[in-house]
Amino acid sequence: MRQQEMSKTSTNETAETGGVSSAFALWGDYFEANLARHDRLDAQIPWASSSPLSSADRVAISQSLQRFELGERGEGAGLLSKAAAQGDAVYDAALLLFVQEEQKHSALFARALDRFGVEPLSAHWSDAVFVVLRRLMGLRTEVTLFLIAETVALEYFGALHGSPDPVVHGVAERVLTDEVEHIRFQIDQLRVGFEGVSPVGRMLAVAAAWMVAVGAATVVALDHGPALRACGLRPFTFWGRALRHFRLAAGPAFRLGRHAAGAVPHGPSVADPR
Ligand SMILES: [Fe+2]
Ligand SMILES: [Fe+2]
Repeated sequence: MRQQEMSKTSTNETAETGGVSSAFALWGDYFEANLARHDRLDAQIPWASSSPLSSADRVAISQSLQRFELGERGEGAGLLSKAAAQGDAVYDAALLLFVQEEQKHSALFARALDRFGVEPLSAHWSDAVFVVLRRLMGLRTEVTLFLIAETVALEYFGALHGSPDPVVHGVAERVLTDEVEHIRFQIDQLRVGFEGVSPVGRMLAVAAAWMVAVGAATVVALDHGPALRACGLRPFTFWGRALRHFRLAAGPAFRLGRHAAGAVPHGPSVADPR
């Protein structure tokens, strides 16, 4: 409630000054309302059910979930401090709630691993690379990396959603709906970040982002290939679909073509997720 009050106050302040922050209050309200939805969906996951997976598929999915559990466990301290330097308290508040949603995803993956009798990882090279890249860069580039990671992960969670295991299916369903909105959240912040950047500057940024996106989709297709196959998705099909998600997000995020102008942010696709 305190968060909602703060968001509404800031909405009025920025609306009066014509600032772009006002619409980020939509995100604060969305993330707050999402808490009740999470509780409802988490309670529907059949945690005590038995798994129909073969032992080989169980190992493949467990090893894959371990890496995602580690990747989403972070506290986002670097991201939050970079955002704080930007001076937009409304965005900062929404960003904190976003980080907390990611930590809840990690907790869901940890619970799914526990059901399989598998311990979470303490470190993995793919997570270490992602963390180092993020720390080297400013807010706009870090948000770009999140956009890439989440568009690629969207197809991964879509694959898990097709798993015959009821818990893997349920966790994927729960996380998928969050990630669709997370991508919109990153697009909104990038639209603010690239406002005023020349077309050439934006084209250079999107070219660099494409290289990272192709690399990320390739790494996931190779590194998580056995899990993707266990869910009935060929790694090459995953690769193409993941990059299609990125292409669809890159247009509005980098203000390309018909997306160059327009109000920001657009906000979540659902006003009240409850
Ligand atoms: Fe997530
Ligand atoms: Fe996310």
